[in-house]
Amino acid sequence: MNSQIKDINLAPKGHQKLNWAKAHMPILNKIREDFEKNQPFRGKKVVICLHLEAKTGYLAQVIQAGGAQVAVVASNPLSTQDDVVAALVDSGITAFAWYGATEEEYFNHLDLAVQFAPDLIIDDGSDLVSLLHTKYTDKLDTILGGCEETTTGILRLRSLENAGELKIPMIAVNDAFTKYLFDNRYGTGQSVWDGIMRTTNLMVTDKNVVVIGYGWCGKGVALRAKGLGARVIVTEVDPIKAIEALMDGFQVMPMEKAAPIGDFFITVTGNKDVIREEHFKIIKDGAILANAGHFDVEISKSDLKKLAVEQKTVRHNIEQYTLVDNKKVYLLAEGRLVNLAAGDGHPAEIMDMTFALQALSLEYISKNQELKNKVYRVPQEIDEKVAYLRLKAMNVDIDILTDEQKAYLASWQV
Ligand code: ADE
Repeated sequence: MNSQIKDINLAPKGHQKLNWAKAHMPILNKIREDFEKNQPFRGKKVVICLHLEAKTGYLAQVIQAGGAQVAVVASNPLSTQDDVVAALVDSGITAFAWYGATEEEYFNHLDLAVQFAPDLIIDDGSDLVSLLHTKYTDKLDTILGGCEETTTGILRLRSLENAGELKIPMIAVNDAFTKYLFDNRYGTGQSVWDGIMRTTNLMVTDKNVVVIGYGWCGKGVALRAKGLGARVIVTEVDPIKAIEALMDGFQVMPMEKAAPIGDFFITVTGNKDVIREEHFKIIKDGAILANAGHFDVEISKSDLKKLAVEQKTVRHNIEQYTLVDNKKVYLLAEGRLVNLAAGDGHPAEIMDMTFALQALSLEYISKNQELKNKVYRVPQEIDEKVAYLRLKAMNVDIDILTDEQKAYLASWQV
C-alpha cells in the first residue's frame, strides 16, 4: 500500500532523530539483535498506532527487523513528527500520518491502517481497537491480538471486555510495573514540564501549580513541579489518592478553591470537563492551562469558547482566551497532550522500557496463538526481563536471595 505522509524529503532529519533515540535505547537494541536472529514476526503484518516520534519510530524498525511488514499510523493528530515519519517510509515502513491532520484525515489514516490487514496491532488510547470493533468487525477474525499502551486505552478495553464484546486478545502494557511506575510517573513528570517550559518560556519557581488528578502521571507532574520550586496543589475525587498527595507534602483542595489561586493548571485525570465553565468564571487572570491526559476533553474548550470575548494565538501552541473583565487564560497545544503536542514525549531511556515491553509482548502474542479474547497482564517474566535489562544499562547490580532466604520466605511455620 502507498504511504500517506507530508514530505519524503524530510527523511534525512528524521534519520538523525531516529539515530539519537536508538543510541539511548539499549534494551531495544538488545531485542533488535534477538529479533534479527530469530525472526519472530516473519510473514506477519503489524500495525502500530502510537504517537509518531523518534522513539516510536525506532520501535517500528525493531519490529520490522523481526521480520514483520510494518505500517504506522498516528494516535494523535498533533504529535506526529513528519521528518520521523518520512525516515520510516525511507526505511521500508508504510505510514499513514501527518502533523495537524484534520479529524477526517486522522480517521481516514486509521481506515488505511485497517486496510493494511494486520495480524498484530499496537494501540495507544484504543482508537484502532474501537474502529475494528465497530466499522471493521469483518477484519477481526484474522487478527491474532495486540498490545495497549495507556491507562485510558485499557479502561476502554475493559469496558469492551466487560460487555462481552472484545474479539481479540489484548495485552495491557500500561499495567506492567516497568511501564506505569516509570513511564507514567517519571516520564510524564519530565516531559510535561519540558513541553510547558519550552512552549511558554516562563518561570515555574514561586508559582502555584495545580495538578488535577493524582494517579501515577499526576504524581510525576506534582513531584517535578516541586523540584522546580513551585507550590503544588492537588485536586482529587478519590479519597485515598488525596491522602497520598497530602502525605507527599502537597496541599489538597477542591477545584473551586484552587481555580482562583493557580498559575499553572495541568489536567491528568482521563476524565472530561475537569476544568469547565464554573471554574473559568473564577479562575485567576493569566492562568496557563495544559492537559497531559490522553484525550483533549479534560479542559472544556467548548465552555472556554462560549465564555470568550476574544480568542487569538499569541505564541506557537499558545491560544489566548479573553474572558469578561479582560481576564486572560492561556490554553497550550489546543488542550491536547502537552508533552507530545508541544514536545517530544518522554525521555528515550524511559520509552526504552515501555517499548521493550511492547516488542516482547507482541512477540508473546505471536507465539501464543491460543490466547482468549481477554485483556491480559504483561507476563511477569517479561516485566522482570525489562527491569534487569534496564539495571544492566544503568550499570547497577543487585543482590540475590540465598537458598536459605528463599526457603524462609516460602515457609509458614514460626
Ligand atoms: N512517545 C511515544 N509514545 C509516547 C507516549 N505514550 N507517551 C510519551 N511519549 C511517547
